[in-house]
Amino acid sequence: MAYSNYFILLSAFLLIILSQTSSAQPSFRPKALVLPATKDSSTGQYVAEVKQRTPLVPVKVTIDLGGQYLWVDCEQGYVSSTYKPSRCRSAQCSLANSQACGDCFSGPKPGCNNDTCGLSPDNTIIRLGTSGELAQDVLALESTNGNNPGRVVSVPNLLFTCAPTFLLEGLASGVKGMAGLGKSKIGLPSQLASAFSFKRKFAICLSSSKGVIFFGDGPYNFLPNHDLSSGLTYVPLLTNPVSTAGSYFEGESSVEYFIGVKSIRVNNADVPLNTTLLKISSDGFGGTKISNVDKYMTLEPSIYKAVTDAFVKAASNVPRVNAVAPFRICYNSKNFLSTRLGLNVPLIELVLQSSSVSWQIYGANSMVDVGNGVVCLGILDGSLVNPNTNIVRTSVVIGAHQIEDNLLQFDLAASRLGFSSLLYGQRTTCGNFNFTSVA
Ligand SMILES: *[C@@H]1O[C@H](CO)[C@@H](O)[C@H](O)[C@H]1NC(C)=O
Ligand SMILES: *[C@@H]1O[C@H](CO)[C@@H](O)[C@H](O)[C@H]1NC(C)=O
Ligand SMILES: *[C@@H]1O[C@H](CO)[C@@H](O)[C@H](O)[C@H]1NC(C)=O
Repeated sequence: MAYSNYFILLSAFLLIILSQTSSAQPSFRPKALVLPATKDSSTGQYVAEVKQRTPLVPVKVTIDLGGQYLWVDCEQGYVSSTYKPSRCRSAQCSLANSQACGDCFSGPKPGCNNDTCGLSPDNTIIRLGTSGELAQDVLALESTNGNNPGRVVSVPNLLFTCAPTFLLEGLASGVKGMAGLGKSKIGLPSQLASAFSFKRKFAICLSSSKGVIFFGDGPYNFLPNHDLSSGLTYVPLLTNPVSTAGSYFEGESSVEYFIGVKSIRVNNADVPLNTTLLKISSDGFGGTKISNVDKYMTLEPSIYKAVTDAFVKAASNVPRVNAVAPFRICYNSKNFLSTRLGLNVPLIELVLQSSSVSWQIYGANSMVDVGNGVVCLGILDGSLVNPNTNIVRTSVVIGAHQIEDNLLQFDLAASRLGFSSLLYGQRTTCGNFNFTSVA
């Protein structure tokens, strides 16, 4: 009797402690965070929903793997009791490397305060930039143990940049900003890692429907039963010494993710290329980057010609059909065998630091279904993509179509990329994370 009374008392006491710790959020330290990202069918953008402000409201953002930081529209509908503009010469301004200080005369309000520092948020979809106030506010995301989303955790003072409403042009419906996952100190991966003291690693696994982003280390468990954080192939991440952002301060390096492609093979044969173009030059040209805002792999014109010629030759037993823009090389899909890795078309390989390490691009990531039984090689000629800017700034851009259903882990501390190769080979997909919350 005495014992059970004691037990009831003890459990009441425990309950009080538990309820106290759950309201005092910092005492729960997540090992990783998870953010579902869904492909918007009309724009092809990957859209995620975070919670921000006080009280918390859902904010949809377009994901930009190489983006500098989070920026959101503060001009319309930004209401928060915890919004804090970053004062000139504060630690926040120096962390963000902002050297621009200013006043704003139509405030005070979010995005418009005196004596604040600013940055230049970019809409990388339509390549438009502007200036905006640096600020901090609460951001909340779901934690994960690697299996499911768990309880929501929040960062009290996440740095982001305010933008005017016009910067939303071209973004998917309902989207209020962009989430930059680039390697800057105020990119989401670095800020979230330091807020929760976890490894400066994150992973993306995008798909043509629902995909997922993890902040922090694995396990990253996908149904039926795979921890995709093990069994990755690792290659170094390289630094491009010149920023690739729309505007930047002198001396800033690029926050995008570059890897060292040494050569390109089609069906095991080296494609003859000017390999100087594959290196990053001291003025920031050339090299290979991974971008999810470029929908398809985009190549410098001479590389485009060499790779597509090799592909056409390797598939010369299959008749071509009329091109469907923006693609040039199209076929009747029924002329290729269907395999687990997509249509059985010539294999394209990006050879990395040694000839035995390559990024293999199988049919599912090389061919695009354009309807009416026609598939086209999903590679674009860089000179046609943006005739005005960035014509051949980066020689090889590995685009969204090429990274779908591949898990990519970016380790900022070790400066390396881990990649899984096409997950269909392991009988899973990026849509196979178990999104049932266990909070
Ligand atoms: C900024 O300061 C000026 C005076 O220097 C004042 O007129 C203006 O109202 C202030 N704006 C804000 C947003 O506080
Ligand atoms: C290779 O590309 C580099 C960089 O654009 C250029 O300077 C060089 O002339 C090219 N070499 C050949 C053989 O075309
Ligand atoms: C997903 O996770 C939930 C919660 O742990 C579990 O009940 C469910 O069985 C899982 N789904 C599958 C398909 O394993």
